Amino acid sequence: MAKRFSPILSFLLVLGCSLSIVAQTKSTDAEGHQWWQHAVFYEIYPRSYADSNNDGIGDLKGITSKMAYLHDLGVDAIWVSPCFPSPQVDFGYDVSDYENIDPMYGTLADFDRMVAEGKKHGVRIILDFVVNHSSDQHQWFIDSKSSRTTPHRDWYIWRDGKGPGQPPNNWISIFGGSAWKLDPATGQYYYHFFYAEQPDLNWRNPAVEKAMLDINRWWYKRGVSGFRLDAVDTLFEDPKLTDDPVLPGTNKQGDPNLENKYNTKFPEVHDVLQKLRKVADESDAVLIGETWTADINELNQYYGEHSNELQMPMDFMFTMVNTLSPPEFRRQIAAVDEAGGWPVYVIGNHDIVRSYNRYGDGKNNDAIAKLMGAFYLTLRGTPIMYYGEEIGMENNDPKRKEDVKDPIGRTGWPQEIGRDGERTPMQWNTDTNAGFSKKDPWLPVPLSYKTHNVATESKDPDSVLNMYKKVLALRHTNKALLEGSYTALNDNDANIMSYLRSYKGKAVLVALNMSASPQKATFNLAEKGFASADLKSLVATPQSSAKGTEVTLEPFGVFIADVTK
Ligand code: GLC
Repeated sequence: MAKRFSPILSFLLVLGCSLSIVAQTKSTDAEGHQWWQHAVFYEIYPRSYADSNNDGIGDLKGITSKMAYLHDLGVDAIWVSPCFPSPQVDFGYDVSDYENIDPMYGTLADFDRMVAEGKKHGVRIILDFVVNHSSDQHQWFIDSKSSRTTPHRDWYIWRDGKGPGQPPNNWISIFGGSAWKLDPATGQYYYHFFYAEQPDLNWRNPAVEKAMLDINRWWYKRGVSGFRLDAVDTLFEDPKLTDDPVLPGTNKQGDPNLENKYNTKFPEVHDVLQKLRKVADESDAVLIGETWTADINELNQYYGEHSNELQMPMDFMFTMVNTLSPPEFRRQIAAVDEAGGWPVYVIGNHDIVRSYNRYGDGKNNDAIAKLMGAFYLTLRGTPIMYYGEEIGMENNDPKRKEDVKDPIGRTGWPQEIGRDGERTPMQWNTDTNAGFSKKDPWLPVPLSYKTHNVATESKDPDSVLNMYKKVLALRHTNKALLEGSYTALNDNDANIMSYLRSYKGKAVLVALNMSASPQKATFNLAEKGFASADLKSLVATPQSSAKGTEVTLEPFGVFIADVTK
């Protein structure tokens, strides 16, 4: 006899089906993890990746031509820093049209081809969304500046000065000088946290908010899988324009040090993030945040009280540990791992000195680069790599002021040399200009390209590139690395950083010698639930090995092993 479903049961069934549809569209796995939690992200600075038309500047066709490389490396998503039309005062972080591609990088059709080619190779595209400011050449600002009563006037922050020649308050731009610029035609000042060519948008104006959310929708429809949100903590400022407290001393630009108390980190930022997140959720997209935070509590807030803000607020704390210090790394990892959100690890980007130089000791830099890759790519969380890190690219800093391209390097020279050094062309092979371009590139490649390039390193099993490839391949296939918990081991060891990644009775052990001398460590895995365990090497440097649960590591050696019972 056919049973009749009770209304409640049918309701639950319908609910169950719709939940599973949501789950499917959100591509969650059995652990509730979404695609971006299993993905490896990779930042591309488009000016410097690959130059298809040989004008000395990289472009989208260049990136498209490297999709197979990215796939083979083990990259699942690329974050392309701004490629929109821009006067390039801040190399694209001054956007003059949010819904187009700068001709220097190609066209929208090239963008579509890049998305399609990425799809073929399993590489998603993440764009950079410059939320705090536009270019002063954006039509919105041109109109805003044209008169005090124009419709776009209130899209930016305009105020009267305190008196003749006096800006509205003491706020300074982090790129140097007052954060206010007088527009003589309308007699008011506008606010810019960054360069004067980057006026701050007024997020308190609902029309601005609507325009920015619509821009997101527009790109999602074009196949973008998410955004990296630029400088999120600067979106709001105190409407009363209270002066920032003055601290002792001056900064690298020679300005007084201020505590950015009244022009950063306002709670309203979180309302905006929630709105951006709602739009992202409609497209199963991810929001990554440029979240410079003082401590873990601040970082934690960016996930949102109900996990409804950024899925991936970047943890920059690693970038501030510039020595190989196991105790310090243990402390940092424990903090973010226990905070409740999904950790996002970063060791380099286009604003900070390359990890190769920061962690390197000048003698063992390649070994240290391999060690750092084996380290942060095996932690619980999502890593964001920076292009060239996988081949041990080094900073190539300008030696003379006249060679500097980054404006802050010119205004702040020699205290502030700018960020050119970490933005040099990708080193593909031993050809002229490292195979990046046939024309002289916009920034010079360092001499190290002769040994540190994709072609040469691909042939050397012991290269930095091959260490990255091996670790990334393991990370994509090993359940303990994809899903497992993180447990620090041998807490008191000052030289060896070691941890277990465990999942459903299986585990991977990672042991990293952060010192320049050989080291040994014995692991008591019985107390972690692995009685009479053995270690079976998965990825290791040539002289590192294990006997039972005793591991021997060469200087800066890596040993990643399956824990077998
Ligand atoms: C972010 C970018 C940086 C840029 C600044 C202003 O910090 O990473 O490169 O200069 O925002 O947009």
